[in-house]
Amino acid sequence: MQPDGIRIDITTPSRAYAVTIAHGLLETLPKQLDDLQLPARRFIVTSPLVWRLHGTRVARIFPGAEPIVIPDGERFKNMQTMSRVHDALVRMNADRASTVVTLGGGVIGDMAGFAAATYLRGVALVHAPTTLLAQVDSAIGGKVGVNHALGKNLIGAFYQPHAVMIDPSVLATLPRREFRAGLYEVIKYGMTSSASLFDRIARERTAIFAKEPPALIPVIAESCRIKAAIVSSDEQESGPRRILNFGHTAGHALEAVTKYRRYRHGEAVAYGMLVAAEVARGRGALGETDRKALGDLISSLGPLPPVADVPSTAVVDATKHDKKMVDGRLHFVLPTAIGATAIVDDVTGKELKDALGRVGFQK
Ligand SMILES: NC(=O)c1ccc[n+]([C@@H]2O[C@H](COP(=O)([O-])OP(=O)(O)OC[C@H]3O[C@@H](n4cnc5c(N)ncnc54)[C@H](O)[C@@H]3O)[C@@H](O)[C@H]2O)c1
Ligand SMILES: [Zn+2]
Repeated sequence: MQPDGIRIDITTPSRAYAVTIAHGLLETLPKQLDDLQLPARRFIVTSPLVWRLHGTRVARIFPGAEPIVIPDGERFKNMQTMSRVHDALVRMNADRASTVVTLGGGVIGDMAGFAAATYLRGVALVHAPTTLLAQVDSAIGGKVGVNHALGKNLIGAFYQPHAVMIDPSVLATLPRREFRAGLYEVIKYGMTSSASLFDRIARERTAIFAKEPPALIPVIAESCRIKAAIVSSDEQESGPRRILNFGHTAGHALEAVTKYRRYRHGEAVAYGMLVAAEVARGRGALGETDRKALGDLISSLGPLPPVADVPSTAVVDATKHDKKMVDGRLHFVLPTAIGATAIVDDVTGKELKDALGRVGFQK
């Protein structure tokens, strides 16, 4: 590992903590937790697949740690699966002197984070994210929770972790489709906040896909920096943090309509960004050159699962259960250029339906 790695600080009213990024960081995880003086009894919440791929290594590094294995994947992200973490903690007599370490993608992080937030009204939490999506996005910022059958992430809390430990070397086993799903969230940061990050993905695509550390680590670090700055300025999403919902209105609706089975979260967000760009273009808020650049970058990463049989009206209806609804009006993040957005609350059902049609949803 690089001696110290990259460190990004996050300061929120509820907690200050650091994100550390270093190739091979997992090897020193117990020492890092000791240095932070986190409670000594450590429970690793992980999934069968992640534990099969990385468990031997983690068990060797972390001899005394106690694994709790629960299923991941979006359709298992619910109260029943989450309560299995509580069950295990109770059975193993976990007390306040416990640290929950999440080792997995965003689903494990969100569920086990919610379990840590609620067990004994909160025990120490460390995220060791193992998907690109979790490394660039979900492990940072303290949103934890589960889905409801009628809507995405409707049950949850804000609970900041005590540390985020990112080891890009674990991505070696991540399938290409999952890797792409994470890159769509990186494109989200590019579109909302950084034209240079957007250009970097386009320019270094091949090396990023090859997971070459000199190409990949700066992309992860820049994404974390953007998220860290936004979360530090607005922990509970009353202002600036809302721009990170770019692509998530139609995206979450698409996930709910297809019962969390057909698309990876990142893929749904990719469609959501295309839809938001079409809405913006339809209003004259986004130029055609920038809309096309977004479309081209998304398609250059590879194919998205089709949407031609998903009715636009079902997606429009599903947005009504969106958390971003305030007083009956849906807050919608529209891109206005690469690296810039505007938040509006007057997007009509018809505008949304027309945009979905233009992106290829069933009219
Ligand atoms: N809390 C937040 O702020 C936030 C932000 C963005 C997304 N999310 C949530 O994150 C979730 C999506 O996360 P995700 O895309 O990581 O999905 P995921 O957790 O379901 O992981 C995807 C798949 O990759 C596998 N996997 C994980 N690590 C692996 C590795 N190193 N090698 C091989 N396979 C591996 C998992 O077993 C799973 O099958 C969604 O539920 C979304 O709502 C939360
Ligand atoms: Zn997301």
